[in-house]
Amino acid sequence: MGTVPKKMYASLIRRERYGRPIDAFRTEVVDVPPVGRGQVLVKVMAAGVNYNNVWAALGHPLDVIAARRKAGATEDFHIGGSDLSGIVWAVGEGVRDVRPGDEVVVLASRWDETAEDIRLGADPAFSTTQRVWGYEENYGSFAQFAVVDDYMCHPKPARLSWAESACYMATAATAYRQLFGWEPHTVRPGDPVLIWGGAGGLGSIAIQLVRHVGGIPVAVVSSEERGEFCVGLGARGWIDRREFDHWGRMPDTSDEAAMARWLAGARAFGRRFWEVLGERRSPRIVLEHSGADTIPTSVYLCANGGMVVICGGTTGYNGDVDLRFLWMRQKRLQGSHVAGAREAREVTRLIEQGFVDPCLSRTFGFEEIGLAHQLIHDNRHPAGNMAVLVNARA
Ligand SMILES: NC(=O)c1ccc[n+]([C@@H]2O[C@H](COP(=O)([O-])OP(=O)(O)OC[C@H]3O[C@@H](n4cnc5c(N)ncnc54)[C@H](OP(=O)(O)O)[C@@H]3O)[C@@H](O)[C@H]2O)c1
Repeated sequence: MGTVPKKMYASLIRRERYGRPIDAFRTEVVDVPPVGRGQVLVKVMAAGVNYNNVWAALGHPLDVIAARRKAGATEDFHIGGSDLSGIVWAVGEGVRDVRPGDEVVVLASRWDETAEDIRLGADPAFSTTQRVWGYEENYGSFAQFAVVDDYMCHPKPARLSWAESACYMATAATAYRQLFGWEPHTVRPGDPVLIWGGAGGLGSIAIQLVRHVGGIPVAVVSSEERGEFCVGLGARGWIDRREFDHWGRMPDTSDEAAMARWLAGARAFGRRFWEVLGERRSPRIVLEHSGADTIPTSVYLCANGGMVVICGGTTGYNGDVDLRFLWMRQKRLQGSHVAGAREAREVTRLIEQGFVDPCLSRTFGFEEIGLAHQLIHDNRHPAGNMAVLVNARA
């Protein structure tokens, strides 16, 4: 420990390999990155697998390598991975709270602590300097060593294995901010909450968080097996989205026949929500990330005065909203992105104390990083969160 090798193995994406995730990642040997002031070099024991490196592998919607090079970076490759568990190996100048030998997990949200907006009191997650490490920023966790800023580190939950510890932070902290970060729309006891992709990374954690505070989670899934998984986590029940066909962009509101068909679909979905809930109440909070296909229904179904909180657009970015539902029923459509250090620490504490399970579904070997991302891309991945062993054996 403290002795930093010059070279390391890493799973790299290069621009010429952009495309199917299974082909985009390849193991290569690269220099271990330098550790700057306020930074920490972590020996990666296990890495988490997230949707963002599906986007990185595709080179779309953001060509992460080109974007960084435009901003002055010299590397012509991307080392992804926005979650890790590992051992602090070396620290840079000025690091006080993290020491070599500490076992840590990392929140992938990075910002410049000296930025003017932060100095003037902004939530760092709102800073114009905020970036996602291991996606927008290089040297993520799909390598033997990773470089992070010291405030990104949190104590690894002692009860969890390396793989369990690595799999949860990006989704758990994001879901935590969605559900508790947007006062006064935080989940209260008895609140019905609709959770898209209930068996996914975000969804599986969200169900447990809602349950933990006494809310009533209702999951949306695309198979019975996934639905039962959600019930096992505490969902009141589940809706099979394959039973409905009004998904995607909304018709033009002046096309009355098409609008009537769309409304019939959305109303049927709403009736199904009531059936599962066991009463005629609409969701006070809708946890969104599926985007274009579902946002029209989310806004329609959300309770008067409730909130649709969205952190992604898996199915597309043109989210149609019939504004009448928004203003007449006084709903809130709130964007939410990753989290801050406090939220990461709070959700980690709930996991450490056993109130929330990280939902590790499958652990991959280092050479299977492309496969893990391909499974997410194809929506064929197992329910929960996935991890990759890097230096750890289990
Ligand atoms: N901004 C942030 O900070 C942040 C953080 C984490 C994740 N995200 C984003 O959030 C999204 C989900 O992430 P995740 O980790 O939860 O991914 P995930 O584990 O793949 O879960 C997503 C779920 O979405 C559901 N889904 C797929 N197609 C759908 C459709 N057409 N309509 C409705 N649901 C659909 C799938 O469930 P069923 O097929 O069973 O319905 C899938 O399990 C990704 O786009 C990711 O980039 C953003």
